[in-house]
Amino acid sequence: MKSVIHPAPDLAEARTVEQHVRGDPGSGFHSSQEMNDPVDLLFGGMEKLGPGSNADTRHVLSLLPARQFGVVVDAGCGSGRQTLVLARELGTQICAVDWSQLFLNDLVRRAGAANLGHLVQARRMNMKDIPQAFDYIDLLWSEGAAYNIGFSQALATWAPAITPGGFAVVSEISWLDAQAAPPAVKEFFRTGYPDIHTVDENIRAAEGSGYKLIATHTLPRRTWIDGYYEILRPKASALLKHSDPSVRDFAAETLREIEVFECSEDSYGYVFYVLQRVRRFSGGLIWL
Ligand SMILES: C[S@@+](CC[C@H](N)C(=O)[O-])C[C@H]1O[C@@H](n2cnc3c(N)ncnc32)[C@H](O)[C@@H]1O
Repeated sequence: MKSVIHPAPDLAEARTVEQHVRGDPGSGFHSSQEMNDPVDLLFGGMEKLGPGSNADTRHVLSLLPARQFGVVVDAGCGSGRQTLVLARELGTQICAVDWSQLFLNDLVRRAGAANLGHLVQARRMNMKDIPQAFDYIDLLWSEGAAYNIGFSQALATWAPAITPGGFAVVSEISWLDAQAAPPAVKEFFRTGYPDIHTVDENIRAAEGSGYKLIATHTLPRRTWIDGYYEILRPKASALLKHSDPSVRDFAAETLREIEVFECSEDSYGYVFYVLQRVRRFSGGLIWL
């Protein structure tokens, strides 16, 4: 689950940026001798690295009371589907942060093809170091990626870098109706992502880190399938025959995740939390 809904390259990996960059820039894949990384094999070349859609990104953007932002950071941008939407809609430069050079290469290529290259700045870094890398941020966007450092941990880590009155838009897989979850779903999350919380719990965590909730938005079920599971399923099925057991295991885990989704009965979903950073005043909080 962890590695599938949220592809997470091993941050301790010894591979260098140069190794990532070698490979065929046209395909988004590495050269053949580097093709045993399960995440790269399964997700390389994909436009969507998680559930979502351009229409949903635009809708969530429209929930913000402001439209003009100085510094915008897209944390865990992946190959940048949402980065390009942000750049196009806001017309301002987006600093796109990800650990994976493979995905960043994809993003840069896609941005160029969409004539948005001048609005996208790709930066390879660990998203937990964002406060050290940016003096202030007016809008921090993160779709399906905060999980990698823990949703509430991510919000607490990023808060000091967000301008008082600035915004964080962060999506997180969340229980929509945990009671209704079939046993197979509960078991899958118990072992795969025990940190999943209800929407109310996530809102409380955000408030505890100095944010005010503006809105939530749950991704429609269709956005998990279109351009995502419908592509992953055949790719994963083909990788079940791969010579490397770690690739086979990862592929099997992916197929299991898709099966669980199909019997989930909407007990969980991907939820956007649209948040505004509050200003601290005399030891308390004042709402902006
Ligand atoms: C599920 S993908 C989502 C990508 C993109 N936002 C989307 O929705 O298509 C999660 C992304 O987070 C990146 N990632 C994981 N851990 C990270 C970290 N600690 N710092 C920066 N990026 C990280 C992965 O490389 C991956 O691109």
